[in-house]
Amino acid sequence: MNKVRQINALINGENYQNGKWVDIISPTTNEVIGQVPALTKKEIDDCYQVAAKAQKSWATTPLLERIAVLNKWKELMVEYQEEIANLIVLEIAKGKTAAVTEVTRTIDYIEYTFEEMKRMHPRTYTGDSWGIANKMGIFQYVPKGVVLAISPFNYPVNLSIAKIIPALVAGNSVVFKPASQGSLVGLFLAQLANVAKIPAGVFNAVSGKGSEIGDILVENPLINVISFTGSTAVGTGIAQKSLRTDLILEMGGKDPAIVLADADLELTATKIIKGAFSYSGQRCTAIKRVLVDQKVKQALVKLLVEKVNKLKVGNPEDDCDVTPVINEKTVKYIKGLINDASKKGAKILTGNKFEKNLIYPTLVDNVNQSMALAWEEPFGPVLPIISFTNVDEAIKIANASQYALQAAIFTTNINSAMTIAHALDTGTVNINDQTQRGPDLFPFMGVKDSGLGVQGIHDALISFLRPKGIVFNWSDKKENK
Ligand code: G3H
Repeated sequence: MNKVRQINALINGENYQNGKWVDIISPTTNEVIGQVPALTKKEIDDCYQVAAKAQKSWATTPLLERIAVLNKWKELMVEYQEEIANLIVLEIAKGKTAAVTEVTRTIDYIEYTFEEMKRMHPRTYTGDSWGIANKMGIFQYVPKGVVLAISPFNYPVNLSIAKIIPALVAGNSVVFKPASQGSLVGLFLAQLANVAKIPAGVFNAVSGKGSEIGDILVENPLINVISFTGSTAVGTGIAQKSLRTDLILEMGGKDPAIVLADADLELTATKIIKGAFSYSGQRCTAIKRVLVDQKVKQALVKLLVEKVNKLKVGNPEDDCDVTPVINEKTVKYIKGLINDASKKGAKILTGNKFEKNLIYPTLVDNVNQSMALAWEEPFGPVLPIISFTNVDEAIKIANASQYALQAAIFTTNINSAMTIAHALDTGTVNINDQTQRGPDLFPFMGVKDSGLGVQGIHDALISFLRPKGIVFNWSDKKENK
């Protein structure tokens, strides 16, 4: 049995706890593996006060000095990458290789962000093109103020840092709230930030029960920007409760893989299996439905079954592809979706086997639009297969979802690919590849219930900055010289 590890919050440069704790449960064993502080309203309010105060001097700290301090934090992440990856494995049951990749991807993200920030030069306009002489405006980028960063369980390092680093390097202060499951590694990163000597109050990390501090966190009037990744239900709640705050919301998805009759089926099946089952389907960008031309359905299904049976299923410590899902609630939800589809005539091709939180990868054929599995986001290793008879039908089904994050199209005909890509209403369309956020410099955005605002390195920086104009006016008259 693992020892129960307690990690403190970080407020105003101090390791902080108040004697009350929230338990962190292992998805693999359902046992308590750690505890983080259960903070109260007063402590959260105080945290915003110190963040707002510290931001003033951080904003005027020269950029290269800000980068130097943040780079020390990054170097500590490099030094402790093994421990960080092991915490990810322990806390969210991600396979070891994927956990290590999450950390190295994050280091790359930080380095690129520093370089990108150095190039956020002011824009200059003249009044000439508006018929006004002797007027010139310089619009430089200045920080917005206090950023609340709320990260999800599935990328507790990468999707935390992808909010925190752009916010900080741009001159904002940050209050960081990791997902409960993900708090151990989130607060561990905060301990490293303190070792790196990020000035007190500039970066703060808090924890607590969502039911007790959730509203308090988002309703504070000192917040200038909220950057959130998580479920559509929670993100929508934040949008309703927040006060005159800029919002970046990355929420749910039901990304379709649309497979045309002329697709390279071997490539298609490989990409679909990776896209649907990596980290047990617990990715907002996972392929969550296959829409396939009925002419090639049997051939595709055969390949999908072959490949799904080769996935390694088991514990994260054994570096499996499919590992236990995050909690028992998710297991129950997924069982309900499979049972509903099964009762309504769907055919289960593989999987539908459960051991505690471990769900064997499940392929469900003959799914139709009357089944919840066709529309709901399972956030687990279950993939519905829906057939279509013509491309217009595929586009209609794809666009009928409440979600519109990404889509994939598999075809060898560039004309079909481009026509369908333009007809889909998702944030991004991938041609002949799985749906995915990276590479991390690409803009990343969802529409409809999938999100608001844009991430990706450049756009993340933009979302934490505002233009500040200084306008020069002058006269040509000689007597004024
Ligand atoms: O879960 C949401 C993430 O933004 C997905 O990122 O496509 O790199 O797995 P990913």
